[in-house]
Amino acid sequence: MADTKRTATLTLDGKTYELPVLSPTVGPDVIDIRKLYGQADVFTYDPGFTSTAACESAITYIDGDKGELLYRGYPIDQLAEKSHYLEVCYLLLNGELPTRQQMEDFEYRITRHTMLHEQIQYFFRGFRRDAHPMATMVGVVGALSSFYHDSLDINDPWQREVASMRLIAKLPTIAAWAYKYSIGQPFVYPRNELSYAENFLHMCFSVPAEPYHVEPALAKAMDRIFTLHADHEQNASTSTVRLAGSSGANPFACIAAGIACLWGPAHGGANQACLEMLREIGSVDRIPEFIARAKDKNDPFRLMGFGHRVYKNFDPRAKVMKESADEVLELLGIHNNPTLQVAKELERIALHDEYFVSKKLYPNVDFYSGIILEAMGFPTSMFTPIFALSRTVGWISQWKEMIGDPTGKIGRPRQLYTGATFRDYVDVDAR
Ligand code: SDX
Repeated sequence: MADTKRTATLTLDGKTYELPVLSPTVGPDVIDIRKLYGQADVFTYDPGFTSTAACESAITYIDGDKGELLYRGYPIDQLAEKSHYLEVCYLLLNGELPTRQQMEDFEYRITRHTMLHEQIQYFFRGFRRDAHPMATMVGVVGALSSFYHDSLDINDPWQREVASMRLIAKLPTIAAWAYKYSIGQPFVYPRNELSYAENFLHMCFSVPAEPYHVEPALAKAMDRIFTLHADHEQNASTSTVRLAGSSGANPFACIAAGIACLWGPAHGGANQACLEMLREIGSVDRIPEFIARAKDKNDPFRLMGFGHRVYKNFDPRAKVMKESADEVLELLGIHNNPTLQVAKELERIALHDEYFVSKKLYPNVDFYSGIILEAMGFPTSMFTPIFALSRTVGWISQWKEMIGDPTGKIGRPRQLYTGATFRDYVDVDAR
């Protein structure tokens, strides 16, 4: 529990209230207002929660001014370079890097949960072939609770553990099958001899008619993309998972809620929207037209892949992603990729343009990810599903932290009500 020494004084209508100030291990202090409504009969007001700490957490820390992202204290650039996704999953879930034996055990368990119950394939067949894969994922992940009845009791630590393993292991299979279904190809089953990232590429791109070789460098790039998206504090989809979990909903339902929230273009849907924007721009000489639109208050257009609710400096994930984009395109022999050229010139111009500099709008994680994923052969509709499968471990880690908090209670924000006051019903003939 964060320590409390100092207090903040609030004076309202001639009365003074002393509010405890809680100090974190790093980051801003927080003013504890839990007793404020009971003492002063007032709410605080913070739509979008930009100045509100909704929980105490020890998982991920972001310093938006420094452009720093730590998973359990380890910086994202070091993890992206030296670790791998399943080790990052262990770290986020358990708080420490695993020993060699712990890692082997964890990988063994995840690997043997990658298959889906054989009947689950029929959920896919109920969707139109042109359904967005995110629609399929929301539906199928929510439906998992109708199959795995032995891991629904959130009060049983062992069942929480099994549900967590199942979700981390099965999301790639579900995402890959959503893709295969959308292109009319047969589902490809996971293979236990492959790594997590190799398995995903295998399930997406192999066909029964011929052998499929997973290019190690592409598997490494895929694994790095998973790591960069794994967790990110109390973002919109994580807050959705926490709020759903606070009602006691089962973990499969909570993750389905997180997937639904991530789908939005202002959040996880930005990677798809960003690549579509880069394609719409089409060439470097059309960039000024789009930058003018982004500045125009009367134009709802925003430069997708730019800006962030927290980062007011470069998103550290974007830096790693940019290096990966160069490596993957080089490996695939894709030179002078027009989309990448537009992206790099857009970034260069935007980072010198007064509007973007003054508003501290930098490329975020979604700016380069789409370029890599497109080069690897994914359609834009698969970009957000890949974000969702990567973020599942973050959602689950945050959900476990919340469920494990004995002081936890159902989330129930209040409001600033500006509607009609009490009035009697009026019969239709008297209106
Ligand atoms: C993710 O929260 C997370 O951690 C999310 C995420 C994660 O890992 O979970 O990091 C993943 O969602 C990344 C963000 C992906 N979204 C996009 O790339 C969509 C484009 N970006 C914007 O929609 C926007 O930047 C947001 C939604 C990301 C943030 O919106 P805010 O908080 O309103 O941005 P802001 O307050 O910093 O904006 C400051 C100003 C505003 O103008 P003024 O009202 O001051 O005149 O900058 C403007 C905004 O209108 N602005 C933009 C802009 N983003 C903000 N103008 C043009 N283009 C943009 N992209």
